[in-house]
Amino acid sequence: MSNKILVTGGLGFIGSHTVVELVNAGYEPIIVDDLSNSNIKILDQLTTILGFKPVFHQIDLCDEAAVINMATAIPDLSGIIHFAAFKAVGESVKLPLKYYRNNFYSLINLLNAYYSKPLNFVFSSSCTVYGQPDQLPVTEDAPVKPAQSPYGNTKQIAEEILTDMVASGTNYKVISLRYFNPVGAHESALIGELPIGVPQNLVPFITQTASGKREKLTVFGDKYNTPDGSAVRDYIHVVDLAKAHVIALKLMEKDSFSGYDVFNLGTGNGSSVLEVIHAFESATGVKLPYQIGPAREGDVEQVWGDVTKSANVLGWRAELSLDTMMASAWEWEKYLNQNPL
Ligand code: WQD
Repeated sequence: MSNKILVTGGLGFIGSHTVVELVNAGYEPIIVDDLSNSNIKILDQLTTILGFKPVFHQIDLCDEAAVINMATAIPDLSGIIHFAAFKAVGESVKLPLKYYRNNFYSLINLLNAYYSKPLNFVFSSSCTVYGQPDQLPVTEDAPVKPAQSPYGNTKQIAEEILTDMVASGTNYKVISLRYFNPVGAHESALIGELPIGVPQNLVPFITQTASGKREKLTVFGDKYNTPDGSAVRDYIHVVDLAKAHVIALKLMEKDSFSGYDVFNLGTGNGSSVLEVIHAFESATGVKLPYQIGPAREGDVEQVWGDVTKSANVLGWRAELSLDTMMASAWEWEKYLNQNPL
């Protein structure tokens, strides 16, 4: 029985952290990445963390022939973890075809190429599929709301593709993991979130402001119907998230698992933007300059996950605190300032 796991998008933020946890669990990750939204130097960082250079192939998963060649060259997989996708909500509104093409071509080419194999397939999904939930915390059986962006739509439709594929009868076992807000960095501070250009997400903007790269953080809105008026999210440490992927593979390796299932990957707790800022300041001792600005278009007011099913069925629970998320993100930012990748 092979222990090889194909990790598409494996040089990205969550992908690279999952490569580390796969090795820790005795798997052999095979990284595939087209480098369109990641940095090849992360491979060197992983080599330092792991003590060996993981197998890496630069492949465009939108190129059907290349994916078929890959499946021929790498036939003996135990599973696939599919991270490779574009994920910037704002950019997806401006460039929808870029998102539909990349996120669907890559998924379908991959599923087709290994279709005849009995494989365990983990899909990187998102809490974005819930939109603004009617009830909080949001459970996996909450109604999927109309997507608020083409990015969110690609995640919703991808889950439908996987559901239909499994229902049609296939050798695949499939788990979709709906991430809430992944933040933080590996304890080594050698890998972490590596935004290209001006950060779109809160935590890298916080750390770049704290390091002086950005003048001031703007809090997008403080008139929401939340305790302090700023928007609420379920922030989860990327290492907790990475470990959940290993646990999902192990669940599918059991004969008792069949077909398709979905799990929320969050902490079950909501934190407001202002609470995150204060958590950063207390965890690092760094005062953060910020101003209040208008709400960001397309943002939901508040969302956090019900993680009961993940605890009881997946057998996973987040362990790391918001302070640890902030402290690790800051250590990574300081490392980057000394060692630009
Ligand atoms: C968080 C909060 C902003 C920047 C993202 C991804 C989405 C999904 C979940 C993967 C919001 C506020 C932000 C800033 C701010 N990830 N904010 N000032 O939008 O919840 O979703 O993570 O699937 O794909 O987009 O994350 O970090 O952008 O925003 O006030 O400079 O921080 O308004 O309330 P978001 P985010």
